[in-house]
Amino acid sequence: MFARRIITLLVILGSAVGCGRSEPTENANLIQPSSAVEQKSLNRPSEQVLEGNQTLPGTARDSSLAIFNRRILPIFQSSKPSSCAECHLSGVDLKEYIRPSQQQTFASLVDAGLINVNQPDDSKILTFIQRRPEQKSLLIEEIREQEFEAFRAWIQAAVSDNALIADAEVQTIGSKFSSDVIRHGRKDRVLESFVENVWTEAGRCTACHSPDTNQEQVKEHGEQVSWISVGDPQATLDYMVDVKLIDTDEPEKSLLLMKPTLQLPHGGGQKMVIGDRTYKQFRRFIDDYTAIVESRYAKSDQLPIPSQEVSVVTDIWMKIEGVPAEYDKMLLQIDLHQQTDSGWSALPVATADRPVFGGGNLWQHSLSLLAIRETDWANQLSAKKLPPGNYLAKIYVDQNDKLQKNFNAELGEGEFIGQVQVESQWPAGYGKMTIIKFPSP
Ligand code: HEC
Ligand code: HEC
Repeated sequence: MFARRIITLLVILGSAVGCGRSEPTENANLIQPSSAVEQKSLNRPSEQVLEGNQTLPGTARDSSLAIFNRRILPIFQSSKPSSCAECHLSGVDLKEYIRPSQQQTFASLVDAGLINVNQPDDSKILTFIQRRPEQKSLLIEEIREQEFEAFRAWIQAAVSDNALIADAEVQTIGSKFSSDVIRHGRKDRVLESFVENVWTEAGRCTACHSPDTNQEQVKEHGEQVSWISVGDPQATLDYMVDVKLIDTDEPEKSLLLMKPTLQLPHGGGQKMVIGDRTYKQFRRFIDDYTAIVESRYAKSDQLPIPSQEVSVVTDIWMKIEGVPAEYDKMLLQIDLHQQTDSGWSALPVATADRPVFGGGNLWQHSLSLLAIRETDWANQLSAKKLPPGNYLAKIYVDQNDKLQKNFNAELGEGEFIGQVQVESQWPAGYGKMTIIKFPSP
């Protein structure tokens, strides 16, 4: 895991050094052409033509052109992501704000309101480049510094070159995506979604996959079983993408889905079923992540509709005894509706789903608390407590493999088996399960 990180960093360092060769010499008379490209451009006759009674000295123009060729073009031509990638997973890159010629670039940036001709240092493009995260990476900071100085120097030289504006054609420039799409592709948003959909569920996997608890597994299976970074969802996500536990080429074949569902052999056995709650959440994140990095969202209406529901995995266990053996290995879902002054709550406040163990006539699992986003109950979820009292447990069994056929389907009336009233203090801990009897028909 660490070796891989270092390689990634070296690649970034390589690119930083690559665009850092330029000296801060802005006077054209002093410039020693440092590359064939620059030599050619400097000598291009069209660049030297001044029209009418322009008073501009040739040197100012050479100067902005030289800076453009020497410091801006390499950013445009680089195959490496720009500093924007530190916060934008996709949707924007500094390259999109550059055109092959300085006239086009300048005219287009001015037209788009990204260069302020009167106050060059207040140009919006410079504001974009100057956004930096709280936790700075020194390497990216260096790239950013170079991008910023290059743009600032070029814009300063270019605004005093009137001819640039006069003779250039305007093109569309900048990100081609709508602001909704850009927002959706921001890394802080992606991390939020990762935490909500994957990190909150990873508690089911920590015993064997978190380095603070899995020494035995590591001894037996190797370092790669430690895919959780303790307390650090961003590092966990980065690692998953690095080693393809999340596979953006074939998202549904990601190891994160294939292993715990036993579509591939898994040292931990079956931990999920296709279409269960955890699977749906993992899949929602992985599919969305893939669409973001592959730039598949072009318009706002293609973005996924945010889930209205939030959930949290608890250590409150529930057990059902006397489950008929005929339901063996079928997914059983239990929904808990809370008693209120006006009857049972319309929506479940807690749920759990897991296959039946027919041989033992039982089913058991830890509860996930459920809430509609931004309600009072949603704000209480993080305490991971279910208020003591009376609940109605509704039981559903997927007898026809509905979820196998369509992982997005929900169990409902067609799968309803029966219901039981249950009163409990809902203590946490595997040893303190709330036990109910399977409802008789
Ligand atoms: C430190 C993180 C960070 C970096 C680095 C960053 N951005 Fe952003 N960007 C944001 C945030 C946060 C927003 C949302 C700002 C808001 O809504 O006020 C945003 C929004 C945008 C938008 C949407 C429109 C707008 O006017 O806000 C564009 C376009 C954009 N960034 C371009 C860029 C470009 C180009 C770069 C690289 C030169 C870049 N960003 C680098 C954090 C960053
Ligand atoms: C009881 C222990 C245990 C639990 C709990 C467990 N696993 Fe595993 N898992 C293993 C072992 C052991 C391996 C290594 C052998 C293998 O690849 O199957 C493994 C391997 C994996 C791998 C492959 C890692 C790699 O880089 O090769 C993934 C992905 C995975 N598990 C996902 C999960 C998910 C997701 C969960 C929780 C929903 C989970 N596991 C819960 C024991 C467990």
